[in-house]
Amino acid sequence: ASLQQAYQPFFHIGTAVSLAQLQPSKNHERDLIAQHFNSLTAENLMKWENIQPTEGNFDFRAADKLVAFAEQHRMWLVGHTILWHEQTPDWVFQGPDGKPASKQLLLGRLKKHIQTLVGRYQGRVHGWDVVNEALNEDGSLRDTPWRRILGDDFIATTFALVHQVDPKAKLYYNDYNLYKPEKRAGVLRIIQQLQQQQVPIHAIGEQAHYGLDSPKLQEVEDSINAFAASGLDVMLTELEISVLPFPPGMTPGADISQHQELQQQLNPYRNGLPKAVEQAWQQRYLDLFSLLLRQQQKLQRVTFWGLDDGQSWRNNFPMRGRTDYPLLFDRKLQAKPLLSALIKLA
Ligand code: XIL
Repeated sequence: ASLQQAYQPFFHIGTAVSLAQLQPSKNHERDLIAQHFNSLTAENLMKWENIQPTEGNFDFRAADKLVAFAEQHRMWLVGHTILWHEQTPDWVFQGPDGKPASKQLLLGRLKKHIQTLVGRYQGRVHGWDVVNEALNEDGSLRDTPWRRILGDDFIATTFALVHQVDPKAKLYYNDYNLYKPEKRAGVLRIIQQLQQQQVPIHAIGEQAHYGLDSPKLQEVEDSINAFAASGLDVMLTELEISVLPFPPGMTPGADISQHQELQQQLNPYRNGLPKAVEQAWQQRYLDLFSLLLRQQQKLQRVTFWGLDDGQSWRNNFPMRGRTDYPLLFDRKLQAKPLLSALIKLA
């Protein structure tokens, strides 16, 4: 039985792929990916720092492997991501003499990046996360070098550039916490602006980095309805349900692996996951998928952020050195009972 086949009448089922998983020794991973998923997103390897680490030096070795794998298995391939304030090298925003780049210089660099990257994979990458995480939690535009240098219409500009290079590609805005009403309103403003300027946008990607208690599923459903009402498809992207506490105010990236007290508090399941917690976790996934099935006409895709617990970024976010259990496969690449439960649910 296969997850993607079970959900094929409803929406694509995707996963994020890393360069490590594409290595020749990772046959088992690749077989599982091909069996259960019909869509792929590059977890890191299409980000600016990997595609164009220094000016004018494009490196497509990893991305080419991903594109070939997706083509071989006829998968819906998502390019992630073009414009983001993270994992973008500093040189992009620097002008000569160490000052910030001028608008003209930055625009030229963005154009060249898009022409080279989107142009190379025209017709083979089916949809692009054109702009990632441009909003603050209150729905206003985030203060980033992109916005400071290019001005508030940097989003429309970027969508228009990608559309010019690949007119058939689907174009997405992707962000987290879009279930929050204020942030959702910010997305609706972006959609409205693009539609007024007749710049295409096809779908909203709601990053679903969820926990056991948050968000409320009703809030997720409300946001799906709101985006669909403005004529767009909706996708749950970057789905995983963490079983760990999400303490606010942690310095992102802090490493607690050597810190005994914090391990007790913040890494409670380092020696294994209690059955009761696993059951609550599984039930939360099943409740979420019941909602998604009910809303399937509005959904184009649901993408898990990785294959197995061992390689999930959640072991290192929002702090490093924890043991999380957020995905469909365990650290030995064994399918959890959730997998067959999800197949049955469909
Ligand atoms: C994460 C990757 O999973 C990690 O491997 C990497 O170290 C940092 O980025 N929002 C996004 C994704 O849009 O690109 C991020 O992916 C997770 C948050």
